[in-house]
Amino acid sequence: MRFLSSVLSALLATGQLAASAATAQEPRSSVVEARYRKIAPKFFIISMFSPEADIWYENLPSSGLGDLLAVNVSAPGLSMLFPHVHCTEDLQICQVTTGESEINAATTIASVVLSGKFDLTSTYFMIAGIAGVSPAWSTLGGVALSRYAVQVALQYEFDAREMPENFTTGYFGFDTYLPNTFPGEWYGTEVFELNDDLRQLALGMASKANLSDTTTAAAYRERYAASSENFTAGTLPPSVVLCDTATSDVYYSGNLLAHSFDNTTTLWTNGTGNYCMTAQEDNATLEVMLRMAIEGLVDFSRIILMRTGSDFDRPPPGVSAYDHLLIMDQDGFEIAIENIYNAGVEILKGVLDGWNSTFEKGVAPSNYIGDVFGSLGGEPDFGSGSLTNGTGVLPDGETGDLEKRELDAPKHASTKRAAETKRRRVLQGRKAAQGLPLMKVRAPSHST
Ligand SMILES: *[C@@H]1O[C@H](CO)[C@@H](O)[C@H](O)[C@H]1NC(C)=O
Ligand SMILES: *[C@@H]1O[C@H](CO)[C@@H](O)[C@H](O)[C@H]1NC(C)=O
Ligand SMILES: *[C@@H]1O[C@H](CO)[C@@H](O)[C@H](O)[C@H]1NC(C)=O
Ligand SMILES: *[C@@H]1O[C@H](CO)[C@@H](O)[C@H](O)[C@H]1NC(C)=O
Ligand SMILES: *[C@@H]1O[C@H](CO)[C@@H](O)[C@H](O)[C@H]1NC(C)=O
Ligand SMILES: *[C@@H]1O[C@H](CO)[C@@H](O)[C@H](O)[C@H]1NC(C)=O
Ligand SMILES: *[C@@H]1O[C@H](CO)[C@@H](O)[C@H](O)[C@H]1NC(C)=O
Ligand SMILES: *[C@@H]1O[C@H](CO)[C@@H](O)[C@H](O)[C@H]1NC(C)=O
Ligand SMILES: *[C@@H]1O[C@H](CO)[C@@H](O)[C@H](O)[C@H]1NC(C)=O
Repeated sequence: MRFLSSVLSALLATGQLAASAATAQEPRSSVVEARYRKIAPKFFIISMFSPEADIWYENLPSSGLGDLLAVNVSAPGLSMLFPHVHCTEDLQICQVTTGESEINAATTIASVVLSGKFDLTSTYFMIAGIAGVSPAWSTLGGVALSRYAVQVALQYEFDAREMPENFTTGYFGFDTYLPNTFPGEWYGTEVFELNDDLRQLALGMASKANLSDTTTAAAYRERYAASSENFTAGTLPPSVVLCDTATSDVYYSGNLLAHSFDNTTTLWTNGTGNYCMTAQEDNATLEVMLRMAIEGLVDFSRIILMRTGSDFDRPPPGVSAYDHLLIMDQDGFEIAIENIYNAGVEILKGVLDGWNSTFEKGVAPSNYIGDVFGSLGGEPDFGSGSLTNGTGVLPDGETGDLEKRELDAPKHASTKRAAETKRRRVLQGRKAAQGLPLMKVRAPSHST
């Protein structure tokens, strides 16, 4: 009952507001009106498992911003463990729990966006979870805001006991013969780049937070001071830092894999990315966001990726990888969970408080945003170059099949020539087709 009445009244209010603004810019007004009569949150929190979600349910009411358990919305495809999207009574803030690892994350986020129950075109998303943390950049309880997410395990792997003597790691990129060599083939989800201008604003907001810490965590951090590597950041109390996230379904731990995936991040982002957090979902969530952004259903420039360190990705000197992961008490879990809220609620408040002045119209990114294919337009500053010559991919499949011919192109001159001919034809066709709904035109129209 509570659900129905509050949703209906809120939908009427937001629907009328947004529909009148949208009709001025979009010819198919009935379609647009229908779309705008949906729940249109300003802020959407993405959690991966219960502790990351509970901290919001428990604490948000006392902030005065609302109760996330006031409105529950189901949709086909949500996790059986977490079958509802939760929203505050005023429908300004929503939250979903994806379930853990890449498949759960992709399935849940796709289900939310395609449910037809939400208008997410102006929504800010914050992926907010715990992670393994590199002592080179951050620490137990530390908060990282990422520009890049790198799917580091998307490679060939030999068990290290069977690898050639000259290998430094069992992982090496597709279509390569050695570790630490630039991949010859890309699946497309290896690297995502997010809006750095938004990230800088989020840093300012999150830095207002008082972060939780414990003496046990502080004692474990101290052990990293003895390392021959520069692990100063690991020894310090938690703070908010800017560095990047690695995604892997495999929950890895230890010096060798940490170094290996650190190298992968550097290599695949062409030296720009700084690996500091490792988690199991982000690239999956971002791939869905990217595909939905092509169709104009979400705005890829409105995504914040925040991870907090719950355990170090590698042991301190004198501790085995096994003891580090399984036996010793790092005591980072609770503070990492608490700091999701402590830092996250400041970002949430910042976006809501600055909605009229800044966030409603959006924060224009000055960096490239998107994937390794250049799907949203522009030239990626990593990878092998845009597949679309910087144009981006059109909605409704209009760009046609870009497929692997582009990826394999550098190896075979004839394939490359054929691919370029084809691409020219596709581009010419696109230019000839006047009035096609380009993504930018499809982007959300904002009420002023
Ligand atoms: C929403 O679901 C949660 C459990 O996930 C429950 O505690 C809460 O009471 C529900 N809210 C409403 C309004 O039914
Ligand atoms: C994976 O996510 C990371 C951030 O967590 C991002 O830097 C990277 O670009 C993402 N890769 C893909 C392929 O989405
Ligand atoms: C590394 O070992 C492989 C397999 O034994 C060999 O084919 C390759 O030439 C070696 N590479 C270098 C750089 O030594
Ligand atoms: C942090 O703690 C200080 C001192 O107790 C307090 O004045 C300040 O309001 C706190 N900041 C936040 C964001 O809670
Ligand atoms: C060591 O790391 C800290 C924190 O990341 C950094 O501020 C400092 O410049 C580094 N020192 C050296 C010698 O590289
Ligand atoms: C990482 O890269 C460095 C520098 O290129 C190299 O010395 C090291 O062996 C690499 N580590 C692994 C595990 O591949
Ligand atoms: C933002 O604008 C809305 C409507 O235009 C208004 O109701 C609201 O009070 C404004 N909020 C702030 C914080 O100024
Ligand atoms: C990234 O590095 C690779 C390998 O060195 C290079 O082929 C590619 O052009 C670089 N990409 C960018 C955008 O600089
Ligand atoms: C790509 O765009 C550039 C200009 O931005 C143009 O010179 C070039 O011909 C285009 N390539 C193709 C294959 O269309």
